[in-house]
Amino acid sequence: MSRKTINVKSNSGTYEVVIGSGIFDEEIGRMAQKSKHDSLFLVIDENVHTLHGDRIIAALKKHTTDLHLIRVPQGESSKSISFWEKTVGFLLNNGVRRNTPVFVAGGGVTGDLGGFAAATALRGVPLYHIPTTLLAMVDSSIGGKTGINHEMGKNLIGAFYQPECVIADVEFLKTLPSAEWINGLSEILKYAAIRDKTIFNDAEIFFDENPAAIDNLKLTDLISKCVLIKADIVQQDEFEGGVRAFLNFGHTFAHALERACGYEKVSHGEAVFLGMLAAVKLSNLTGSRLSDNHLQKFCSLYHYRVSKEELSYEELIHNMAADKKKTDRFIRFVLLNEWQHPVLKTVKDKTLVREALTVVLNEL
Ligand SMILES: NC(=O)c1ccc[n+]([C@@H]2O[C@H](COP(=O)([O-])OP(=O)(O)OC[C@H]3O[C@@H](n4cnc5c(N)ncnc54)[C@H](O)[C@@H]3O)[C@@H](O)[C@H]2O)c1
Repeated sequence: MSRKTINVKSNSGTYEVVIGSGIFDEEIGRMAQKSKHDSLFLVIDENVHTLHGDRIIAALKKHTTDLHLIRVPQGESSKSISFWEKTVGFLLNNGVRRNTPVFVAGGGVTGDLGGFAAATALRGVPLYHIPTTLLAMVDSSIGGKTGINHEMGKNLIGAFYQPECVIADVEFLKTLPSAEWINGLSEILKYAAIRDKTIFNDAEIFFDENPAAIDNLKLTDLISKCVLIKADIVQQDEFEGGVRAFLNFGHTFAHALERACGYEKVSHGEAVFLGMLAAVKLSNLTGSRLSDNHLQKFCSLYHYRVSKEELSYEELIHNMAADKKKTDRFIRFVLLNEWQHPVLKTVKDKTLVREALTVVLNEL
């Protein structure tokens, strides 16, 4: 059994992110022993419930006779005001108390939604993340961002709310469809671009035909490397007043694209990958001279369900202008001075943004 533990410091205390294979039952036991509770809640993605529900429920039932479970329909549309209301209502109607642990098992959608429900029910109940997608393990379960979407844009309603613990058992990943591996790969490549170029080499394991066959030790090492970077950044800047913004590399383009596709035809990871390609182009258009495009070799792994004819420059630029990272009437991007050296730049010249978007549209 391989296991790595990374401590993340926050204003509200330090929490552990435990990564490894076959660690789940033992870690649940450790967590349950630490907390005083009568009942437990489980907010779980419906596919994860089908595939891994028995194992997760059995582990939790060892520590309570009163387990309450709510299934979250898969897909971004669950990050909605109505489903958040339903989830909080479920917690309250079933007697959640200030010390009742809420376990949230699934990908970033369930994590963001369940995390926000835990943050808001009774002004905050103990939250335990059980990420089950690669994206959730390397990114969304760490750092305390929780939230839901609004018709004005993605993640516009939410709270910074830190978990008590994150348990990332790579065994859960074995049932991921191949597109979901590639989805998570984008955030891994993001860490490579903004902090550690060696990750580009590590990520070549995804060229293997079947990602589910990737060695657990290699997977644990790579996920841990990413978690360490995220932990380091969010510890310096918990509420995104400074360096944390660098984690949004590629995301201004990505959110605009996701919104243009109604959050359905493009996954978050696909949008982030395209967004990073655009950000590299925009970096070069605004004065950087990036040697080699390290992202280029990963293009062949991505297969898009949206075509360029379905998108317009005007709509994408309009969506970017509505992005919450905008500070004034100009759009602010995370760009690269060089690989591993991100920088925040306000780009006033829309023709440059349009030119960078051409890279995205030409990939589709
Ligand atoms: N909070 C943050 O800091 C943060 C960071 C990055 C992304 N996000 C958010 O995360 C979301 C994307 O997360 P995601 O990519 O994990 O998507 P997701 O949660 O929609 O999961 C993707 C798919 O995988 C399925 N799934 C989950 N675990 C599985 C498993 N073990 N086996 C088989 N199928 C499984 C789900 O049912 C779903 O169909 C977006 O909403 C994005 O905004 C949040």
